[in-house]
Amino acid sequence: MKPRAFNHTGLTVTPIGLGLAALGRPGYINLGHAADLNKVYDVEAMERHAHAVLDAAWDYGIRYFDAARSYGRAEAFLSTWLSSRAFDPIECVVGSKWGYTYTAGWQVDAAKHEVKDHSLPVFERQIHESQTCLGKYLKIYQVHSATLDSGVLDNPDVLNAMGKLRDNGVIIGLSLSGPGQGETLLKSLGVQINGKPLFQSVQATWNLLSREVGPALAEAHDAGMGVIVKEAVANGRLTDRNNLPAFSPKRKLLQEVAAEAGVSIDALAIAGVLARPWVDVVLSGAAQTAHLVSNIQAQNVVWNEEIEDRLSGLTEPAEMYWQTRSGLVWN
Ligand SMILES: NC(=O)c1ccc[n+]([C@@H]2O[C@H](COP(=O)([O-])OP(=O)(O)OC[C@H]3O[C@@H](n4cnc5c(N)ncnc54)[C@H](OP(=O)(O)O)[C@@H]3O)[C@@H](O)[C@H]2O)c1
Repeated sequence: MKPRAFNHTGLTVTPIGLGLAALGRPGYINLGHAADLNKVYDVEAMERHAHAVLDAAWDYGIRYFDAARSYGRAEAFLSTWLSSRAFDPIECVVGSKWGYTYTAGWQVDAAKHEVKDHSLPVFERQIHESQTCLGKYLKIYQVHSATLDSGVLDNPDVLNAMGKLRDNGVIIGLSLSGPGQGETLLKSLGVQINGKPLFQSVQATWNLLSREVGPALAEAHDAGMGVIVKEAVANGRLTDRNNLPAFSPKRKLLQEVAAEAGVSIDALAIAGVLARPWVDVVLSGAAQTAHLVSNIQAQNVVWNEEIEDRLSGLTEPAEMYWQTRSGLVWN
């Protein structure tokens, strides 16, 4: 995989990255997560499994890794993998996030899996935890799921603290979620600390079912921000495992186009993201090496106007997309 600039940030990334949301903890919302892990939740076994998927990602050339404080032990698994393989921090980029605290206690059926809080004490605690765990590998630190309601973009104490981190050489980013992703991103573009834009990277949900944040991502990219796309296969809804009867016409179309391109549905969906001129990294959320291998076939798809036209009708209204996502069951 050919490395490329993370837009104007000074970092080098790969077009496909690996996210660890599904690898760091027993429970997650992705379709079939429990089956992917064979319901093996022993910490050491999960760590070995995460390391095996990370090894495969490295062998395929992936050099961007995404974690968060709230992904259970994702940062710790990444840290033990990076140090045991003795990679030089210059060889890869790790991004992590603050703002959610993991509260599931290693249970799949926890009453509350994570608690959101974008206050200064949480930032100070979590940046310390992340840097202790990831050291020099940690190059991007993102507000986890910033929204206008979370107040983080109007909190001068938090913004100044992130400004200090930026001045110490860490790229400051924000991840987005929900139907207001675009509005939040556009507001973030105006945040300056000491006369310089604070946010240099953004991670957002864009996929063939949900495209509404596209124009704002294009604007952010034009402004020099690095753009990372998450949930490229809509949490498993844009894969073979989506057997919902209501999805079957869309699935049929996806299967046809994917077969003509010689790839799986998930690779086609990821290729659709890679085809956007404003994208720098698209995350694979694979919890299994086989799915990672399928995902990265996206690189072989030659996206063209005909494919674009045929798949343009897959988009769902934003409210419907996010309502479906919030109904996904932790498993
Ligand atoms: N707010 C935020 O900041 C935020 C929110 C969500 C995600 N993220 C980041 O984005 C990354 C990716 O997002 P995501 O995992 O939530 O969503 P995603 O990438 O859209 O979905 C991944 C799901 O698709 C399944 N899948 C992929 N290829 C498959 C195949 N060939 N066959 C069957 N199933 C397949 C995966 O299954 P397997 O598990 O079996 O591979 C997994 O369940 C996360 O790891 C995380 O780093 C950030």
